[in-house]
Amino acid sequence: MTSPIIITGVGKRIGYALAKHFLAQGQRVIGTYRSHYASIDELKSLGAILYQGDFYDDAQVQSLIDELTKLPQIRAIIHNASDWLADSSPYAPNEVLQRMMQVHVSVPYQLNLALEAQLRAGANGEIGASDVIHITDYVMEKGSQKHIAYAASKAALHNMTLSFAAKLAPEVKVNSIAPAMILFNAGDNTEYQQKTLAKALLPKEAGNREIIDLVEYLLNSRYVTGRSHNVDGGRHLK
Ligand SMILES: NC(=O)c1ccc[n+]([C@@H]2O[C@H](COP(=O)([O-])OP(=O)(O)OC[C@H]3O[C@@H](n4cnc5c(N)ncnc54)[C@H](OP(=O)(O)O)[C@@H]3O)[C@@H](O)[C@H]2O)c1
Repeated sequence: MTSPIIITGVGKRIGYALAKHFLAQGQRVIGTYRSHYASIDELKSLGAILYQGDFYDDAQVQSLIDELTKLPQIRAIIHNASDWLADSSPYAPNEVLQRMMQVHVSVPYQLNLALEAQLRAGANGEIGASDVIHITDYVMEKGSQKHIAYAASKAALHNMTLSFAAKLAPEVKVNSIAPAMILFNAGDNTEYQQKTLAKALLPKEAGNREIIDLVEYLLNSRYVTGRSHNVDGGRHLK
């Protein structure tokens, strides 16, 4: 039996698309979700093993770790779950920062440490390694005036890519993917969409396929680790 790929936040959008992609290949997928959508039942019917949990709840994170450490080996972990809290959210500033650090830094940190043995054991024979992929954000290098805590937490997540790549080599490759405009949210109005598209050299809503293809590249690479891979339409040059 193949080693599973773990994906956090599979209920919608990029996490859901990644889970469906791997299931269609016959790859074992273990996912996490917070809210229950029809997509969750669909992924289960396709064979995914899914755990519900809120990463803001330490006890639920620990239950997830307890389940995942029972696995003998893991092919990859994709840290995708994310909350895009604005600094102006109803939470007090210390709560905003705490939440951003919890979901984007503390949970990936805990999972990577707890699953070290399973990741080392899951090294793909031909490629010679297993993978950890941190999904960060273009703003980790640019910052953000309205999502300062979010951007800082994604920068911290990328910094862990450096540390874990060194710690877990050569059995485990660890990389970041830093997307910009992959998918608009349902409530984004035309004005916002036009303003956002104009930030890139390639003014497009990139779509899930860009992330799926990059994840596939990283999983199949024999020599790429400890790097951030931008999917941002050349925003840094505008
Ligand atoms: N989409 C883009 O254009 C874009 C751009 C830059 C970076 N990214 C990054 O790419 C990744 C995927 O993006 P996306 O747009 O698909 O994300 P998304 O639509 O916001 O979905 C993220 C998933 O994470 C889950 N999640 C959030 N907080 C959680 C918590 N406390 N505990 C457990 N699960 C939680 C959400 O669950 P609920 O459904 O319960 O909320 C959701 O299903 C994220 O890391 C994001 O930061 C995306």
